[in-house]
Amino acid sequence: MPIKLDGLEKVFVQQLKDMYSAENQLLEALPKMAQAATSSKLEQAFRDHLKETQGQVKRLEKIFSSIDYKPGGHRCRAMEGLIEEGKEIIDEQGEPEARDAALICAAQKVEHYEMATYGTLRTYARTLGLDDACELLTETLREERNADSLLTDLAEHSINKLAMLTAS
Ligand SMILES: [Fe+2]
Repeated sequence: MPIKLDGLEKVFVQQLKDMYSAENQLLEALPKMAQAATSSKLEQAFRDHLKETQGQVKRLEKIFSSIDYKPGGHRCRAMEGLIEEGKEIIDEQGEPEARDAALICAAQKVEHYEMATYGTLRTYARTLGLDDACELLTETLREERNADSLLTDLAEHSINKLAMLTAS
């Protein structure tokens, strides 16, 4: 059942549900991305973020219970599309180093999508006076930003160069 948007709290809950679905989809996708990575550093980055994502799902559940709502009942279409693009990269033929570079791109699109929603959610929580939720969302936002900058470092300092050098 779609939620009726009759107040900021409802918008907050709707976007929380969106992220809950997004994170859960990511829990399934990250192991596949790790498996597809050739660089051991990239594989480790995906596995580390998988662990963080498990914690992020728990944080969302905490927020839901603190405001007496249940998670679920909504599927994030945007994450579905982003993950689908990741799958296309995994299935593509070609140089493994180039695939790593493309996987980083797919993962950073995911991180930016999450950062956008978590940033918005945190602003809602602040306006609604939900201090604990605000803190939990800030922690997750920090993790997403770190994951994103770690991927930028990996791309800049090794993977993009390797991909460039292996061009046939
Ligand atoms: Fe996340």
